[in-house]
Amino acid sequence: MKKIAVKLGAASYDVLIANRLLRDAGKYLRAKCGVPSKCVVITSPRVHKLWGVGLERSLRAAKLPFITLTMPDGEQNKTIATVDALVRQMAEAGVDRSSLVIAFGGGMVGDVAGFAAAIYMRGIRVVQIPTTLLAQVDASIGGKTGVNLSSGKNLVGSFHQPTVVLIDPDVLSTLPAREYRAGFFEVIKCGIIRDAKLFVAIERNPQKFLKRDDPAVMQAISASVGVKADVVSRDEREGGLRRILNFGHTIGHALEADGDYKRLLHGEAVGWGMIAAAQLGANIGVTPQKIADRITDVVLRCGPLPNIGSDPATILRLIQSDKKTQRGVPHFVLTTGIGRTDIVSGIPAAAVRKVVATLNKMSAR
Ligand SMILES: NC(=O)c1ccc[n+]([C@@H]2O[C@H](COP(=O)([O-])OP(=O)(O)OC[C@H]3O[C@@H](n4cnc5c(N)ncnc54)[C@H](O)[C@@H]3O)[C@@H](O)[C@H]2O)c1
Ligand SMILES: [Zn+2]
Repeated sequence: MKKIAVKLGAASYDVLIANRLLRDAGKYLRAKCGVPSKCVVITSPRVHKLWGVGLERSLRAAKLPFITLTMPDGEQNKTIATVDALVRQMAEAGVDRSSLVIAFGGGMVGDVAGFAAAIYMRGIRVVQIPTTLLAQVDASIGGKTGVNLSSGKNLVGSFHQPTVVLIDPDVLSTLPAREYRAGFFEVIKCGIIRDAKLFVAIERNPQKFLKRDDPAVMQAISASVGVKADVVSRDEREGGLRRILNFGHTIGHALEADGDYKRLLHGEAVGWGMIAAAQLGANIGVTPQKIADRITDVVLRCGPLPNIGSDPATILRLIQSDKKTQRGVPHFVLTTGIGRTDIVSGIPAAAVRKVVATLNKMSAR
């Protein structure tokens, strides 16, 4: 069992990673959370069907009282209405301040269930049991929760740190290849920003990771969780260091929005966004060209990425209106070498447009 600490003073917690952990989830929850008045498993119908029996059996074995609530899949259901339906069911079931929410699913479930826990009775405990690669290496750690509005993604939310995060890589066996690959781009990101050893391992043999060899998956998850836990421990609320996690996300988010959140999965948009950040860095002299080319090469070898064909001016406009853009001035996380980053603002619009044109050309190849 791997144990990685997120150090946030009184709100510190552990991320536990082990194969077949789901079977013992009840035992670990009991050890970390005692016996809550009720556990509320919040999940999606698909995850419940695939893995729910295992989790529920382990809760029963640990004599933890629980109810299971499902919420519909799909980003279009990441709404206040879904949270409203959940908290009403929680109230009807007599969920109280000493109850515990168990967020069991992908990042969508994690964000929505986490937000429900954050606001129910002004906040009850939540544990995250992520079931997609993206959620295991990224979304379940760091305490960001929330929902979308029609005017934008994740516009309503709250920081609500989990009591513990339980990661069982075995559950990834049922994840569709495209979803797995999308999550894997966030793993590559962790390597680029803070773990050169991880990046080099992927560069040497991407297929080992993509074929989901047990030890490779374990390495990918542990190393990425290590990076995210360390960054979040140093900067809980994205005032400084946490911004490096946005490597590949500035142009990535714009590409995602330009495709109406349908053409690209989030991780795929980050894949293109990392190529963009690398080549942009090279064009303005921050990133050595050789490093930019290595990043480009690794991302493309971990593809296929869906084609893009975005108008550079539209992408620029989307970047300027992103919620992370302060006063219309975009900040780019760029790399100065594998494992190192620099935050750069004041990049000329022409350089951004040029790099989008480069992506379009690569995509058409
Ligand atoms: N809080 C954060 O810090 C943070 C970070 C990154 C992303 N996010 C959020 O995460 C969400 C995306 O998460 P995601 O990529 O996990 O997608 P998702 O949660 O939408 O899940 C994708 C699909 O995979 C299915 N699924 C989940 N686990 C499975 C399994 N083991 N086997 C088979 N199918 C499975 C789901 O039912 C769903 O259909 C977005 O809403 C994004 O905003 C949050
Ligand atoms: Zn991301």
